[in-house]
Amino acid sequence: MTIEKRYRKRYKSGDTPWDAGQPDFNLIETVIQNPILSCKVLDVGCGTGDNSIWLAQNRFQVIGTDVSDIAIEKAKEKASQANVKCDFILVDFLKNKIEGVPFGFIFDRGCFHSFSSEDDRRRFAQNVATHLEEAGLWLTIVGNADEDRQGPGPPQRTAADIVLAVEPYFEILSLQSSHFGSNRPNPPRAWRCLMQKRHVT
Ligand SMILES: C[S@@+](CC[C@H](N)C(=O)[O-])C[C@H]1O[C@@H](n2cnc3c(N)ncnc32)[C@H](O)[C@@H]1O
Repeated sequence: MTIEKRYRKRYKSGDTPWDAGQPDFNLIETVIQNPILSCKVLDVGCGTGDNSIWLAQNRFQVIGTDVSDIAIEKAKEKASQANVKCDFILVDFLKNKIEGVPFGFIFDRGCFHSFSSEDDRRRFAQNVATHLEEAGLWLTIVGNADEDRQGPGPPQRTAADIVLAVEPYFEILSLQSSHFGSNRPNPPRAWRCLMQKRHVT
């Protein structure tokens, strides 16, 4: 099954445990603490748009992209209800260049981690770098393999999985053990990784 069909099925049936209905505190803390200043942002795999909308409400110019048409429609609806200007585009990030490059900041929550092959994760990291301006930042929120889990949950990656994929293109500024922002009890553990695009000579 293609990723478009896989995610369409999940959004259609409501099997979307990642969809917290609110922006993730990992994004909010990272933006405020560093601070990351107003710039053009790309939210890759934006889902139903809560993180994009928070960024737009905080003076960022935001494009959200997703492969799921259902997610993109919901994101547009939410932005309109919140009276926020945000562009949402139905596109496969691994196959297309997004209009609006270069971005100052790229965010993804649960998109990079969804690729199970090392090659795809590296390709994703390279593509993020291609869309960023010189010294631009990427924040990714990734399922953490240090969680001992019996039941279902997000894909889990080790710190080494992240480093291996991003190292050629990014300098890691911080890699913290965290958990996903969620309104459910015991949210899954996560990595919060902030990176800066390497200078290419
Ligand atoms: C775990 S969900 C997270 C959604 C959203 N970031 C959130 O936090 O609610 C992963 C999202 O990535 C999207 N996605 C997966 N592969 C993608 C790709 N190649 N290009 C764009 N979006 C993709 C899926 O459709 C899905 O909405």
